[in-house]
Amino acid sequence: MKTLTAAVPLDFATIVAPVQHQLHQLDNYIAKQLADGDSDLSPLLCHLQQMGGKRIRPLLCLLAASSCGAIRDVHFPGAAAVELVHLATLVHDDLIDEAELRRQQTTVHKKFGVPQSVLLGDLLFTQAFAEISKTGSLACVSLLAECSRQVCVGEIKQNAAAGESPITGDQYIAIVAGKTGGLCRAACGVGAILSDASSEQIDALQSFGTSLGIAFQIIDDCLDLVGQDSVVGKTLGTDLRTRKWTLPVILGIEHTNPTIQS
Ligand code: IPE
Ligand code: IPE
Ligand code: MG
Ligand code: MG
Repeated sequence: MKTLTAAVPLDFATIVAPVQHQLHQLDNYIAKQLADGDSDLSPLLCHLQQMGGKRIRPLLCLLAASSCGAIRDVHFPGAAAVELVHLATLVHDDLIDEAELRRQQTTVHKKFGVPQSVLLGDLLFTQAFAEISKTGSLACVSLLAECSRQVCVGEIKQNAAAGESPITGDQYIAIVAGKTGGLCRAACGVGAILSDASSEQIDALQSFGTSLGIAFQIIDDCLDLVGQDSVVGKTLGTDLRTRKWTLPVILGIEHTNPTIQS
C-alpha cells in the first residue's frame, strides 16, 4: 500500500527556483514593453515600470510551461501579455476603488488624473493583445481574449451588486473565478499551450489557475479588512468603503443572521 506523507509547505523562493533565471529575463522583457520614447507616454509608462509588482501571473505562465516542457523565447510575449492585461485591470480598478496607493506608489489616477488613467488602461490592453499575437498562436490569442472578458464581467457583476442586498457565497465565488481566476487561468493555459502540452494537461493547468485565482482573491479580500496599507503596499479597506461584497463579510453576516444562507 502507498504510504502518504504530510505535504511540506513550500516557501516562495522554492516555488520560483525552477524558473528564476527566466523570470529575471521576463522582467527585462516587460521593462522594454513599458519603455516608449514618446514624451506624452513615457511619464505614465515609467511610473508603471517603477511600481514593479510580484509578477505572479508571468510566474504561473513559466511554471506551467516548465511543467509540460521547455521554456522557449515564445513564452516571453505570452507571459508579458498576461501581465499587461493585469496591469491594465489594476489601473482601472484603482480608479473604481478610489485607491491612492498601489505597489507602494501613488496610483495612476491620483498622480496623472482620471482621464489619463482610463486611457493608460486602454493602452495597456492594446499592448497586451499586440504581445500575445507575437506568439503566433491563435489558441493563446483567443484564450487571453476570453479570460480578459471574464475579468471584465466579474468586475461588472461585483460593481452591480455593490451596496445592494448581500450576495451568496456561491455568487461571490462565481464573480472572483472570473475577475481574478480569469488571468491566472490564462497564464497557466498560455504557458502550457506554448509548450505544446496535451489537451488534458492544458485543461488541468487552466483549472488549477482558476482555483488558485479564487484562493488568492479570498486572501486579498481578508487583507482588505485586516491588513496594513504600508505592509501590503496598497490602499486597503476599499471593499467596505465602496460597499463591495466579499467572502469574509458575506460569511460574517450569515453567522450573525442565520436567516440568510448561501
Ligand atoms: C492584485 O494582484 C489584484 C488582485 C487580483 C487581488 P497582485 O497582488 O498579484 O498584484 P501585483 O501585480 O503584485 O501588484
Ligand atoms: C482586483 O480586485 C481587480 C481585479 C482582479 C480585476 P481588488 O479590488 O480586490 O484588488 P486590489 O485589492 O485593489 O488589489
Ligand atoms: Mg481594488
Ligand atoms: Mg482587494
